[in-house]
Amino acid sequence: MGEQKKILCVGLVCLDIINVVDKYPEEDTDSRCLAQRWQRGGNASNSCTVLSLLGASCAFMGSLSAGPVADFILEDFQKFHIDVSLVSEHVQCVLPASVVISNISTGSRTILHMNRNLPDITAEDFSKVDLHHFNWIHWEGRNAEEQVKMIQQVVMYNNTLPKQQRITVSVEIEKTREPLYQLFSRGDVVFVSKDVARHFGFLTAEAALKGLYSRVKQGAVLICAWAEKGADALGPDGLLIHSDAFPPETVVDTLGAGDTFNAAVIYTLSNGGSLQDALTFGCRVAGRKCGFHGYDSISKKFQDD
Ligand code: ADP
Ligand code: FRU
Repeated sequence: MGEQKKILCVGLVCLDIINVVDKYPEEDTDSRCLAQRWQRGGNASNSCTVLSLLGASCAFMGSLSAGPVADFILEDFQKFHIDVSLVSEHVQCVLPASVVISNISTGSRTILHMNRNLPDITAEDFSKVDLHHFNWIHWEGRNAEEQVKMIQQVVMYNNTLPKQQRITVSVEIEKTREPLYQLFSRGDVVFVSKDVARHFGFLTAEAALKGLYSRVKQGAVLICAWAEKGADALGPDGLLIHSDAFPPETVVDTLGAGDTFNAAVIYTLSNGGSLQDALTFGCRVAGRKCGFHGYDSISKKFQDD
């Protein structure tokens, strides 16, 4: 029997400093939080957390600084059994951080993010990866030009292999930045955010998928999550697939809901599930996540079912 292949997520890890409030603060006031905590953040890093909690074996590839904050991050990766052997350390850099205001009355998360000088992973870094270990690689859209070159390396690798041994490529286009749009045509599975959809003038997930599908490559699946409206997907057969959201009793924390959704979709598809199963599971896991702080309870909740 061969080695169990992993899911690799390429993108950001940062420190989230989370301030929990029950009322969004007024500007220029001095108020107390209900709680304050440090959490490992970043889309690719959060998706790894969820993949691992769901029982998938996964690895994170991204940049890290050195020092006590980086140690906190590394320990947390280890706590979740996430393989960090592809993390590159930049001792002279500062770890990116987000200050998050998490409002339990609405579940809203307001993020102030700063990356002072930590560079992203390059295609040259990626060329050192032994692709045999992976059956799925997910890119959080960031330095798109380099990421296109990384994906080309995977395409070349895939061309040497029979279909069932190939690596599936997924990409997330979350931010409204022009260079990221070249990633549409690169993924087998493409996640486009509500923000990007709206930026293109679409008012619903369905309209976005129909309007943006011409940008994806032949045979690809385009997926668009839309908060409490759930999520839609469109594949090569032209059938639009939808899942409603699964709202928890009380929405308390939506930080990383999208990363959770992506992870649960990737988890299902990488295990051979249908697109409908993937969307439904994505919405179930992400909806549940919105009912508690952080990610830790994801696995507990699903064991309870
Ligand atoms: P993000 O803003 O973190 O990228 P989205 O708003 O795209 O996340 O939501 C991702 C998924 O999370 C949605 O498809 C939905 O299933 C779930 N979700 C997000 N917000 C809510 C909410 N308020 N109630 C229920 N489910 C939600
Ligand atoms: C959530 C998140 C946070 C991070 C921010 C970066 O999706 O990844 O963990 O602070 O977004 O944009």
